[in-house]
Amino acid sequence: MNTKQLFVDALAPVLAEHLSADEILNLIEVPKDTSHGDLAFPVFQLARVFRKAPAQIAADLVTELDQTNFEAMVAVGPYINVSLKRESVGAALVQEVMAAGSVYGDVNIGEGRNMTIDFSSPNIAKPMSMGHLRSTVIGNAIANIAAKVNYKPVRINHLGDWGTQFGKLIVAYKMWGDDAVIAADPVKELVKLYVDFHEVAEEKPELEEEARAAFKRLEDGDEEMIRLWTWFKDESLAEFAKVYKMLNIGFDSFNGEAFYNDKMQPIIDELEEKGITTVNEGATIVDLEELNLPPALIKKSDGATLYVTRDLAAANYRKENYDFAKNVYVVGNEQSAHFKQLKAVLTKLGREWADDIVHVPFGLITLDGKKLSTRKGKIVLLEEVLKEAVDLALEQITAKNPDLVNKEEVAHQVGVGAVIFHDLKTERMNSFDFNLADIVQFEGETGPYVQYTYARSKSIIRKYGKEITGDLANLTFDLTDDYSWEIVKKLIDYPRIIENAIERFEPSQVAKYAVSLAQLFNKYYGNTRILEENDQLDARLALVKAMTIVLKDALNLLGIEAPEEM
Ligand code: ARG
Repeated sequence: MNTKQLFVDALAPVLAEHLSADEILNLIEVPKDTSHGDLAFPVFQLARVFRKAPAQIAADLVTELDQTNFEAMVAVGPYINVSLKRESVGAALVQEVMAAGSVYGDVNIGEGRNMTIDFSSPNIAKPMSMGHLRSTVIGNAIANIAAKVNYKPVRINHLGDWGTQFGKLIVAYKMWGDDAVIAADPVKELVKLYVDFHEVAEEKPELEEEARAAFKRLEDGDEEMIRLWTWFKDESLAEFAKVYKMLNIGFDSFNGEAFYNDKMQPIIDELEEKGITTVNEGATIVDLEELNLPPALIKKSDGATLYVTRDLAAANYRKENYDFAKNVYVVGNEQSAHFKQLKAVLTKLGREWADDIVHVPFGLITLDGKKLSTRKGKIVLLEEVLKEAVDLALEQITAKNPDLVNKEEVAHQVGVGAVIFHDLKTERMNSFDFNLADIVQFEGETGPYVQYTYARSKSIIRKYGKEITGDLANLTFDLTDDYSWEIVKKLIDYPRIIENAIERFEPSQVAKYAVSLAQLFNKYYGNTRILEENDQLDARLALVKAMTIVLKDALNLLGIEAPEEM
């Protein structure tokens, strides 16, 4: 339902000769100050056709419009301000939400087509750091929202399991590796080897050369290299799996960079045949100077392929296998040149679908003001952060609700939810600092605040004790107070928020919406005796129920669970 539409319906018949329904819709404003009514229509546009002063036009129009759906309609200067009839709008909304349940807000933008979403994509033999949190949770939320607007999301984890860094790791392992130490705490030890390599290579640059040679042997299928690489990879995947389990995030494909090792040659051949590449000091490149981009490095002088070469093969593979309508990459802003190169090279190859590639970048996450990195060994393990968040949540829940039976489960949902929410409420391009104690608070714009609001409303419904699905058609929805009206209008806005979120690949739209819906509900709660026995009781509970449906759906879209009690 769209309240603006009610106003359009009143204006369109009278203005049919001058403005289309769409034009009217676009002109309608929502006044910032609610005392000016719910909607306003400026009449400036009509001054020329009517040859009258705008204020006169507004005054005249008011006498001509059908007022059935409006509580009030007044001309204020060059504007017509209207207040909607709260009862009829509220009843229609509540009925619609309850009938739809969790499909309320679904819109058909995707038409069932595939959207491949490349997200998380950590590098093996490295821990999954806080740096990968953003891609993981933004990507997952985008996939959920995509499904809500009728795309079929294909969740792809493009593992960083190939490249010269594995040459480095193998060289380091051969010099200093101790199998027993590695077996005891694999990823930690592998990271140490990698860090040590960089330290030593600063004095012994010849190590870099050795590493390149080792990677070349890996690419060529050398048995020992493959054995080591597979070992490192299996250990890493086991670590990642723990984090994904905590976050409750799954993937349709783990085809990472290595998967494309034998799929690059056809693309390289095609690039060469079409004369798109040039050779520069032995390396094969695509010059992109005319686009103000650095050249895309396709093949090094020793024949080793690169990151972009694998992404070219991967994009091609995705088109062939999934025939995507959109191919989305949720990857940090520092890689934006890379994705521009990828698109540019595919365009040169004549792939029309290059236009359907979308890089969804995001800003940095800092910890207490400092950048996170693995090179210098300053590592913040995502798994540990999540565990700590769960512990903090458990403390708060124990204090607030000591008798809760499934405390541990709820603490998990709240702690993990807090971390996800904090990430998603920020517009993705904005960087943010991460302070665990702040984000697990039950007050403020936090995940726990939204979850707590949900649990509170569910507890009201439990206390009420009756089914609220009842006889909707006969529901007398006579709530006209400002607090419930604000909730009604917010719920009406949900489908538009979903559309915005997918258009801009911006889950923060949904997170911000969830916070403001929760705030409106808490105002309502603070000012209303919801459970008081009187003839508006059913209507109030219907509103509460509709609110819970939407709030839960919003949380779920973000990848956050909504505990019934906390
Ligand atoms: N593994 C890369 C990194 O951690 C991200 C990969 C993103 N996906 C892609 N198709 N390039 O930086």
